[in-house]
Amino acid sequence: MKFQSKTEIHYGKNSIRYLEELNAKRAFVVADQLMVQLNMVKMVTDILDARSIPYEIFSEVEPNPSLETVKKGLDCIIATKPDLMIAVGGGSVIDAAKAIMYFCIKTKEQLIERDAIRKPWFIAIPTTSGTGSEVTAFSVVTDSQKQVKIPLVSDTMIPDAAILDPEFTRTVPPFVTADTGMDVLAHALEAYVSKDATDFTDIYAKKAVKEVFTYLERTFKNGNDMEARQKMQAASCMAGIGFTNAGLGVNHSLAHAVGGLFKVSHGRANAILLPTVIAYNARVGNPIHSVATRYATLARELGFPASTDQEGVLSLIAAVTYLNQQLEIPSGFEELGIDPSAYRAQIDTMTKNAMADTCTPTNPRKPQPEDLKALLVQSL
Ligand SMILES: [Fe+2]
Repeated sequence: MKFQSKTEIHYGKNSIRYLEELNAKRAFVVADQLMVQLNMVKMVTDILDARSIPYEIFSEVEPNPSLETVKKGLDCIIATKPDLMIAVGGGSVIDAAKAIMYFCIKTKEQLIERDAIRKPWFIAIPTTSGTGSEVTAFSVVTDSQKQVKIPLVSDTMIPDAAILDPEFTRTVPPFVTADTGMDVLAHALEAYVSKDATDFTDIYAKKAVKEVFTYLERTFKNGNDMEARQKMQAASCMAGIGFTNAGLGVNHSLAHAVGGLFKVSHGRANAILLPTVIAYNARVGNPIHSVATRYATLARELGFPASTDQEGVLSLIAAVTYLNQQLEIPSGFEELGIDPSAYRAQIDTMTKNAMADTCTPTNPRKPQPEDLKALLVQSL
């Protein structure tokens, strides 16, 4: 067993000032157009200017970044030769920066000895509280020609430092706060019951679950509640540390399958699936199962009614359902606007994709295709 958490975490109000401590010769900043327009990139480059650190900005990252964009970024980083790389943005920007780093190192490995490669110091500044990408070894890029997602996993992509400055999340609109916040909950709950969960990952997963139940609704209802924003930012990061070590489960496999074919955000798909998946994993209605004990323990710690494991699981499901309602997230994909007949026509494909998903092997209950099919039907 191994637990790893290598990213330095600088957090709290004004933690962006960590950049003032750096000595770098040349920086490479990865962002998207929105981050430029919202002056988030400027908040970074103002410090680089004051420190007289020259920089190049690559701001062409799009949502669900494509391989083509990563290739452009790779050309740019090779030309820039930075000793510092800073990603400012949501999950897509940080994922793109990680992929650029990954291919940059791979390219260098073909040219020079591995020991002679100097990797730029990589700082991630998340501007949404959801993916936890600032601390994980995962990135997803899209091959738009073949219409497939390419998951990348490598320790070389784990950022060296993350800056969790709540000011960078202040302008996130409520529906994005809701979706990304429920993604945090899905990461934490899946990491907690994962087959590869350990005492170490439990600490992060449990704390993240508690913080989501305490602060997500507050953040959704008042985006200027900076205490709640900061707590959600930390929860996202903690859930990231949990799941990069413990893995995820079929909630994410199904969310990837639905999101790959229909227009629904990743976090919203996870939110809709969560109550059904918890019931499936815990075998609600059948003889009690060890996974149910895990969920019930969590429910007890959260102060939900849990005099028996069965009651604890039902309390947790009720709490997730209630939170979804408070966040104005529909209870099914049809209510979200997905055409039910188009959805039903794709159930076999989505089942096949979810069975093959990289998140499925760590699910606490080994699914059969008909199990996932039933979960997809129930979530419509
Ligand atoms: Fe996720």
